[in-house]
Amino acid sequence: MSLISPFPLPPFTPQTPLRLGIMASGSGSNFQAIAEAIKQGELNARIELVIYNNPDAKVAERAKQWGIPDQLFDHRTFSSREALDEAIAQALQQHGVEWVIMAGWMRRVTQRLISAFPERMLNIHPSLLPSFPGMRAVEQALAAGVKITGCSVHYVELAVDSGPIIMQAAVPVLPNDDVATLQARIQQQEHRIFPLAIALAAQTSDMTVPDSI
Ligand code: GAR
Repeated sequence: MSLISPFPLPPFTPQTPLRLGIMASGSGSNFQAIAEAIKQGELNARIELVIYNNPDAKVAERAKQWGIPDQLFDHRTFSSREALDEAIAQALQQHGVEWVIMAGWMRRVTQRLISAFPERMLNIHPSLLPSFPGMRAVEQALAAGVKITGCSVHYVELAVDSGPIIMQAAVPVLPNDDVATLQARIQQQEHRIFPLAIALAAQTSDMTVPDSI
């Protein structure tokens, strides 16, 4: 397993705690990994809010166990993607969120949300982008017969699973792999690189010279 990054590792820990908002649709194992990294002092951050869109998403249970506020935004109850994203952006801003972390958010996002957090929205995807964007990335990799796949953390842009890549980890495809075994090994790498990528993005953003200078 190799980490593809031009930067030394670790730590990339920012001086002041990053205020994170997590968006997730399912299990929330990546949320858990980020929360653990914070607890272990590997990432200087606070998770201000967990947003989820499926009423039975396990991530809500996990958030409650960590004592982190969670809020359901059931996409079926909104008239449009923009209306959903408008409500989410407001909730994130009300909680003082600075960085939005899509950790298994399985909805397309609109410019309404992206524009509320310019260059401060990250997504994780279970492939070496730009290969295999969209749904069922692990199935796509197996079907294509690639020998190496992995995961990517990238800034969010309008097109699904696009945007500048921050960090990737490579995972070999083994001869007897099925979706479950390969996905499990990819997720191990996701849990490792997501906190690092968040800190790296924050550090890179700190180094950006403001327009006023
Ligand atoms: C993760 O593997 C993530 O890469 C994927 O959803 C999973 C969520 O797992 N995201 C996408 O496919 C986005 N296109 P988790 O709920 O256990 O963190």
